[in-house]
Amino acid sequence: MMRATKDDILVESERILSIMSTDELSQVQSERIIQDSLENFPLYVTEAILKSRKSYADQIGVAEWSDEGAIFRDTKGEEYIDCLGGYGVYLLGHRHPRVIQAVERQLHRQALHSQELIDPLRGYLSKLVAMITPGDLQHSYMVNAGTEANEMALKLARLATGKTWFISTEKGFHGKTMGSLSATGKGLYRTPYLPLVPGFQHVPYGDAEAVKSAIRQLELTGESVAGVIVEPIQGEGGVNIPPDSYLPALREICDQHGCLLIVDEIQTGMGRTGTIFASDYVGVTPDIMTLGKAFGGGVMPIACMVTQHKWWGKMEDNPFILGSSTFGGNPLCAAAAIATIHTVVEEDVPAIAGEKGSYFLHGLRRLRESYPTAMLEARGRGLLMGMEFRNHDTGYQIAKSLFNEHILVGGTLNNAQVIRIEPPYSISYEQIDQVLDALDRALRGAGT
Ligand SMILES: Cc1ncc(COP(=O)(O)O)c(C=O)c1O
Repeated sequence: MMRATKDDILVESERILSIMSTDELSQVQSERIIQDSLENFPLYVTEAILKSRKSYADQIGVAEWSDEGAIFRDTKGEEYIDCLGGYGVYLLGHRHPRVIQAVERQLHRQALHSQELIDPLRGYLSKLVAMITPGDLQHSYMVNAGTEANEMALKLARLATGKTWFISTEKGFHGKTMGSLSATGKGLYRTPYLPLVPGFQHVPYGDAEAVKSAIRQLELTGESVAGVIVEPIQGEGGVNIPPDSYLPALREICDQHGCLLIVDEIQTGMGRTGTIFASDYVGVTPDIMTLGKAFGGGVMPIACMVTQHKWWGKMEDNPFILGSSTFGGNPLCAAAAIATIHTVVEEDVPAIAGEKGSYFLHGLRRLRESYPTAMLEARGRGLLMGMEFRNHDTGYQIAKSLFNEHILVGGTLNNAQVIRIEPPYSISYEQIDQVLDALDRALRGAGT
């Protein structure tokens, strides 16, 4: 596209700003937004987004516009129950009032920081993170996205141990920047970018013996292992729950071999699985924990790596200096995360997620008994649940039927064989029943 004239740029941006400042869209405006989007995405973003499953092909004209609690609305004002929760972002729901209030107040005072002076909210937030995390996790490094938090976790493990290799897991998901992608265990995401960062060995998930034997082999051949990186429950990999003995065994193995246990709580953390962190369920304190998604309360993008003093303090040029990030931990995002921690603790979000999750999962398991040829398994902990169907097509069909009934769910690993259910903690029991009824109809309609 040729560079536009100043006048054209002003007219177009004025038009968009005026749509953005409209409280309630008219039908004409709503249709115009859809029409604009159908033009803009292929030309300036990518058509792949329009064609992706998220829009369910024939529902291509649905654009999200506003939201609150456990629902969002499209440009026409139609409501949808959010059972995907932004793949974990919306644990507190959409625009939780406590988080919005903190961000609005901060916005009216100061949005970003100079990068040079002391920015107090970073310190307050880091202290609160140390207060809510297990054991002696203490020093935080704030970034903008989960993948950046894992990048720094990997870098810190190398710095702190002076060792090289990482053990990660098949189907594990840790992000898509080069280092985190190297830890990620799915060929689909990795192959186009090979060779990735060297020194990653993937082993089957849930199998502590496989980790032990990989470390033993590496050490026998003169290599050294800096860390083991795992999710306490694999989210993207298909809601895979390891045996209760898994994380404690990894803790022991890491201690024996002098390597760091990195637990990626980016999807599971802040209460989603019924405990504030999924690793609390088995009482394991990692050397490094990473947080993201729900950490910003579903309002601001912020992620974090938190580690023990003995690892952080080992280096003069600690990760904050070596890895500094322009926007990481900025005042607006920090305000959101501080309000998130307050809300999670005050409202006992983990307990609510645990109770609603049990009720939901019980309902899914009843449906699995009624439709055993279509649904092979319903599994989960708290409000992180998965339904495994006999194949991708069945899962896709079910997800599409649910969307037609204004309920959003999501696949895993770019596949609909396992459908993820990750609603906000504020989903009501009536809404859960509504989803279960719609699912019953969808399964019946799928001819099972
Ligand atoms: C467990 C886990 N780790 C890391 C990431 C990457 O986070 P982000 O997309 O914010 O970079 C994700 C995202 O889905 C995740 O689920």
